[in-house]
Amino acid sequence: MKRVLSVVGARPNFMKVAPIHRAFAAFADTIVHEILHTGQHYDASMSDAFFRDLDMPQPSYFLGVGSGSHAEQTARVMIGFDEVCRDHRPDYVIVVGDVNSTIACALTAVKYGIRVAHVEAGLRSFDRAMPEEINRLATDAIADDLFVTEQSGVDHLLHDGVARERIHFVGNTMIDSLHYALPRAERSSILQTIGVAPQSYALITLHRPSNVDDRDQLNMLIDVLNIIALRTTVVFPVHPRTRKNIREWGIEERLSAKVMLIDPAGYVDFLALMRSAAFVLTDSGGIQEETTALRIPCITARTTTERPVTVEIGTNVLVHPDKGSILQAVDTILDGKGRPGLVPELWDGHAAERIAAIISSQCL
Ligand code: UD1
Repeated sequence: MKRVLSVVGARPNFMKVAPIHRAFAAFADTIVHEILHTGQHYDASMSDAFFRDLDMPQPSYFLGVGSGSHAEQTARVMIGFDEVCRDHRPDYVIVVGDVNSTIACALTAVKYGIRVAHVEAGLRSFDRAMPEEINRLATDAIADDLFVTEQSGVDHLLHDGVARERIHFVGNTMIDSLHYALPRAERSSILQTIGVAPQSYALITLHRPSNVDDRDQLNMLIDVLNIIALRTTVVFPVHPRTRKNIREWGIEERLSAKVMLIDPAGYVDFLALMRSAAFVLTDSGGIQEETTALRIPCITARTTTERPVTVEIGTNVLVHPDKGSILQAVDTILDGKGRPGLVPELWDGHAAERIAAIISSQCL
């Protein structure tokens, strides 16, 4: 039996790994697939709820690293994962996305001579002020197998000199999870619970340090939400990083009554909120993809996107994160002038099956 270990750490990792775990069931006679959770995200709403919603088994390993500076967090993951690689020596390690746990585990495993796959490889924002961009560049440089979600990823890897046979354009496992959970999202009661009707609200997520760790920027974004609330209800599930700053800077009292701050939603409830939103305003990476797959208008308040296909053919519009640009994009959508959008190639719900087939052929 060969042992394949997938790493999760932060919220956006869980939905990328869940379908990979399911897909390896087809190879159960030759491969054992296990999950390791670094504990980068540890609140129940940021972690446990996702295991439940995605039918993921409990992780075989839990490192419990928690929060800290980038160096502290990355280092703690490396030390914890070092022990796992040394004592349990998996045959193959899969890392996903671009969070600190991704680079930490890739770097640790390759030094043991363990073959490493990076799922969601090749994405580039070309903004090195984003910690995720550094994590992407470093992980792609050392991983053996690079699984790509969109054509831009293939182009960037080839440009960086990666051998073509290491690059696999397989589609998007995050969208596999979306297909899997959508029937349950359709039955979710979250809209009734918070008291909003379909298509009658804007859904907001903001957690990028560039938007929420700068007091003036966060205040400006809150002004924007108050103005949006003049036209439509605003539902804002708040990430712990953002919540902390809103509290610390006393911003809560400035919010209009039509801006509903709620706790981070679980995966199924968040899908339910997305699929019925009039539009989504975000600075997330994954939500640009999920809204594209759902064909829900999305405004991404950032200067760059590492997921250009969502803008080129999807429903996503990239707007500079300033008041005028965001509100103009909001008006365009609320005036019914948004783009319908297409679903990108291979975002068909079967990416994880393609990944499992390729990895199993390499493991044997
Ligand atoms: C991380 C990822 C980011 C991803 C985001 C999704 C990196 C570099 N960043 O950012 O790419 O989009 O996750 O959510 O890996 N906190 C809690 N409870 C938790 C987790 C965090 O209270 O369960 C608080 C802590 O105060 C912590 C802060 O949130 O310091 C930030 O958490 P961290 O994991 O460092 O980065 P994120 O901003 O969540």
